[in-house]
Amino acid sequence: MKISFLLICLLVLTVTRDCTSERCDDWGEDTRKLTQAYDGEPVRLRCPLFEDYLKHNYSTAHSAGLTLMWYWTGKGKDLEEPINIRLPDNRISKDKDILWFRPALLNDTGNYTCMLRNTTFCLKIAFPFEVLKKDADSCVSINKAAEVVIFPLQDTALLTCPDTTGYYPTDVTPTVNWYMNCILVDGFVDRDPKGLSLQFINVLQKYEGNYTCIVSYDENGRPYNLTRTIYVKTIASHLQARPPVMITPNDKQTFEFIAGGELHIPCEVYFSYVNNSYTDIGWRINGKSEGDFTDQRVLVNESVTLDMGNPGAKTIKKELRIKNITPDELKHNYTCTAKNTLGVVSRQALVKEKVGTPRYITELACGLGATLFLVVCFVIVYHVYWLEMVLFYRAHFGTDETIGDGKEYDVYVSYARNAEEEEFVLVTLRGVLENEFGYKLCIFDRDSLPGGSK
Ligand SMILES: *[C@@H]1O[C@H](CO)[C@@H](O)[C@H](O)[C@H]1NC(C)=O
Ligand SMILES: *[C@@H]1O[C@H](CO)[C@@H](O)[C@H](O)[C@H]1NC(C)=O
Ligand SMILES: *[C@@H]1O[C@H](CO)[C@@H](O)[C@H](O)[C@H]1NC(C)=O
Ligand SMILES: *[C@@H]1O[C@H](CO)[C@@H](O)[C@H](O)[C@H]1NC(C)=O
Ligand SMILES: *[C@@H]1O[C@H](CO)[C@@H](O)[C@H](O)[C@H]1NC(C)=O
Ligand SMILES: *[C@@H]1O[C@H](CO)[C@@H](O)[C@H](O)[C@H]1NC(C)=O
Ligand SMILES: *[C@@H]1O[C@H](CO)[C@@H](O)[C@H](O)[C@H]1NC(C)=O
Ligand SMILES: *[C@@H]1O[C@H](CO)[C@@H](O)[C@H](O)[C@H]1NC(C)=O
Ligand SMILES: *[C@@H]1O[C@H](CO)[C@@H](O)[C@H](O)[C@H]1NC(C)=O
Repeated sequence: MKISFLLICLLVLTVTRDCTSERCDDWGEDTRKLTQAYDGEPVRLRCPLFEDYLKHNYSTAHSAGLTLMWYWTGKGKDLEEPINIRLPDNRISKDKDILWFRPALLNDTGNYTCMLRNTTFCLKIAFPFEVLKKDADSCVSINKAAEVVIFPLQDTALLTCPDTTGYYPTDVTPTVNWYMNCILVDGFVDRDPKGLSLQFINVLQKYEGNYTCIVSYDENGRPYNLTRTIYVKTIASHLQARPPVMITPNDKQTFEFIAGGELHIPCEVYFSYVNNSYTDIGWRINGKSEGDFTDQRVLVNESVTLDMGNPGAKTIKKELRIKNITPDELKHNYTCTAKNTLGVVSRQALVKEKVGTPRYITELACGLGATLFLVVCFVIVYHVYWLEMVLFYRAHFGTDETIGDGKEYDVYVSYARNAEEEEFVLVTLRGVLENEFGYKLCIFDRDSLPGGSK
């Protein structure tokens, strides 16, 4: 009895011990840490714990007796398993807080977990890793995100092939090929390869694009490639950085509105590109700023137009609208203010009340104008198309006035006696006038009988 009780106690103890030792602080999956690599290329995964989550670096954690372990869950699998670091050629290896793939293969895609632990303490985090194939006929895959760098125009700049150090021993000199939008470039204009970098001598807007560097080297007799893509974006030169320029309102333009109508004043400001600057623009009415406008009739609307020839620069238009404006409100102070880090510009709009013509006079003038217009139109149409109108009238409503007029013929045709004219008269003219319109023609040869009509 005593013995079995002791046994149960022991069992419970071991189970609880196991449970506590299995417990681990799981910080879940850090999807921001997605690493992407190309099939067949070397890549390293760094355990994110030491970057953003712990104050310790790997060396201090290691000397404190903590060990780092790696697990992974293959794509489409449920089971988390230890990573096999005993593959041929040391394809996957561990070095401090880094997991190396020499090289990575398509089926290495999955979620990776690194776990830091001792007997009483455990912490783990997961992150995704994706291995991609390059697109057919391309030096890249469109699914791999490219880094973006921003170069000011008319300046020199150095484009460095990123994330290549530490991949090969220091005594190895790799070769590098540069591609612009995946076309191998041998002799760039204005851009010179310099070691693993590309030196831009004078940045132009047309140099914008995807730059891919492929670094090739041999290690232990095996060739390897590292493919990196950077998107180069250009931005206006700092030499053109200026305080904002106000286009409207200005001293020359006066805005006139009818009392009871809508007030509508645009504030248009050109902002050149200024590094790390805000672009503020706002209306004030009698010193009251936009945030304090409570009247429902007041609307403020903003639109932005980019300056295509000057990347980073833009025109911002902020429109102030007030419905049912009163004569008093037309005397208010409407001031627009624009600001960037280099300066402020502020201007009051010149607003006047428009003495409008009374409404019924406008309506009367409109009515008269419309009538006159219609009459003129009718006269013009009649002049141009009178023949068609007469014929149309006759065809549809008219009695044939050629019958009751007591004349035997309606038309006398005289013509030159050659074959061409004769054919025109006898076939075309006669066909149309006699058959279609019902006139009777007197044609010299046909109808002039001796003693007939004159
Ligand atoms: C790790 O951190 C310690 C102290 O915080 C520092 O002395 C050491 O240089 C660091 N090691 C690395 C590899 O950064
Ligand atoms: C991954 O694919 C390679 C061939 O592409 C194969 O040799 C290897 O066994 C695969 N690994 C796993 C874990 O399925
Ligand atoms: C990684 O895990 C997340 C859920 O935590 C899952 O949605 C995702 O599909 C996994 N990725 C891969 C490649 O297995
Ligand atoms: C395990 O690590 C934690 C955190 O560094 C430390 O406080 C604790 O004393 C360590 N436990 C053992 C048994 O080393
Ligand atoms: C640069 O690459 C991205 C994605 O890889 C693509 O969407 C974009 O169109 C490319 N730009 C140029 C100018 O080729
Ligand atoms: C390296 O890249 C070059 C050019 O894209 C290609 O011809 C070569 O086959 C690649 N080598 C390896 C080992 O992937
Ligand atoms: C903008 O300013 C930051 C520092 O505030 C600097 O690091 C960066 O290089 C500048 N960018 C350009 C395009 O001048
Ligand atoms: C209109 O208001 C602005 C500030 O809101 C002020 O600087 C300016 O002096 C005012 N104009 C007049 C005529 O009061
Ligand atoms: C603001 O202006 C934009 C374009 O100018 C327009 O599409 C939008 O409807 C306007 N909004 C209001 C509330 O007037």
